Amino acid sequence: MKQLVEKIESEFSSRFHDDFILVKSPGRVNLIGEHTDYNDGFVLPAAIDKVIVVAIAPNDNREINMVAVDKGETHHYHLDDPLSKTGKGWPDYILGVIAELQLNGFEFGGFDCVFGGNIPIGAGLSSSAAFEGGIITGVAEIYDLDIPKRDRALLGQKVENEFVGVQCGIMDQFVNIHGEDDHALKLDCRSLEYELYPFKQDDIHIVLCDTKIRRELATSEYNIRRKQCEKGVEILAQYDDSVESLRDVSLELLEAHEGEMEPVIYKRCRYVIEENNRVEQACSDLEKGDIERFGQRMYGSHHGLSNMYEVSCEELDILVEEAREIEGVLGSRMMGGGFGGCTINLVEKAEIESFSRTMKQRYNERLGREIEIYRTRIGAGAGIVEATQEKN
Ligand code: GLA
Repeated sequence: MKQLVEKIESEFSSRFHDDFILVKSPGRVNLIGEHTDYNDGFVLPAAIDKVIVVAIAPNDNREINMVAVDKGETHHYHLDDPLSKTGKGWPDYILGVIAELQLNGFEFGGFDCVFGGNIPIGAGLSSSAAFEGGIITGVAEIYDLDIPKRDRALLGQKVENEFVGVQCGIMDQFVNIHGEDDHALKLDCRSLEYELYPFKQDDIHIVLCDTKIRRELATSEYNIRRKQCEKGVEILAQYDDSVESLRDVSLELLEAHEGEMEPVIYKRCRYVIEENNRVEQACSDLEKGDIERFGQRMYGSHHGLSNMYEVSCEELDILVEEAREIEGVLGSRMMGGGFGGCTINLVEKAEIESFSRTMKQRYNERLGREIEIYRTRIGAGAGIVEATQEKN
C-alpha cells in the first residue's frame, strides 16, 4: 500500500507540482445477495483493502489532465469542449463523472489527476466503482462541493448507467462510499437504508479464487436477467397492486402463478426471492455469531446462481465444489455478475495456506489451468488519505 501511494505521489510531483490531495478508493466483495440489487432487494457487501489511489489538484486553465500510471497512458479534456464518451475505457469514467456533476448543477474548474491501484480489473471486485468513487471524492474535496454520501453513490451509478452504458445496480458504488473497516454493510437497495454488521476477521478470513476468465457474455446476459425479472414482475403485478419489483413478491404469490409464466422466468424470480430471504437470514446468523450457518447460506446462494439464475460457469462451479471439500472452509460462492471472475471463500486463518495450495492443485488437475488467489481484508470506504502519514 505504501509503495502504491508513493508511486502515485511521485508521478504527480514529477508531472505537475507537490500540492495535491490523495484519495483512496476501495474495491468490494459481496458476502451474499447476488443479482438482488436491481430487484430492489438486499445485499451484504464490504469494501476491501484493494484500492485505487488518486492524486488530484485543481488547475486554473479549465483543463482535465488525466494520467493512468499502471497503463502508462494519458488523456486530456478541456471543460469548454463538447463532452462525449471516448470508447477508450478508463477516460470515460472520469469524463462520466464530469458529465454527471455538470448535469447536477455543480460548479468546478479544471484538475490534474494521477491514479493507479491494485484491484484486479474485470475480476468482479468493482474496480470501476472504485474509480468513479475516487474521482467523485477527489473533485468534491478540491472544489468544496457539498455532495452527501448517498448522492455520491447514486452519481457513480449514473456514470455507469448513462455515460459508460453498463446497467448495473447500486451495490458497488454504495459500498465503495459507505464501507467501514471490519464491517459488512447490509443495504436495502430500495430505500438505500443500511446497517453495518461487525465482521470479525481474527480467525476467519476472506479468500478469493480468481478464474481469470473475463467473458463479454457477462454484460449481455446481465441485461437479459434484468429483463426476465421485469417480465416476472409484470405478470405478478396483475394479481397484486403492491408488486413493483421482485422485492415485493412472496414465494406463495410466485408459486400460485407458476403456470402463467415461462419456466425460465419462474426460475429467475424464484432465485431472487430466495436470495433476498437468504440475506436477511445470513444477517441474523452474523448477529448470533453463527458463522457456520452463514457459510452454509453462501453455498445455497451459489446453488441458486448456478441452477436457477444460471449465471455461473463450469470453472466457478468447480471452485465451489472443491472448496467445499477442504478442511477449514466455512462457505464458498461465485461473486458478482458471474460467467467468470472470482469465488469468495470464508476460510479459517490457520488453513489458508493449505486451502490456497489445494485449490490451485485441484483446479489445475481438473481444468489444466491456473487460478490466482487473493487474501483480502475488509477496509474503509473511499476517503482522503493524509499524504504525510503515508509518506513517512
Ligand atoms: C455487478 C453489478 C452489481 C450487481 C452484481 C450482481 O457487480 O455491478 O450492481 O448487480 O453484478 O449482484
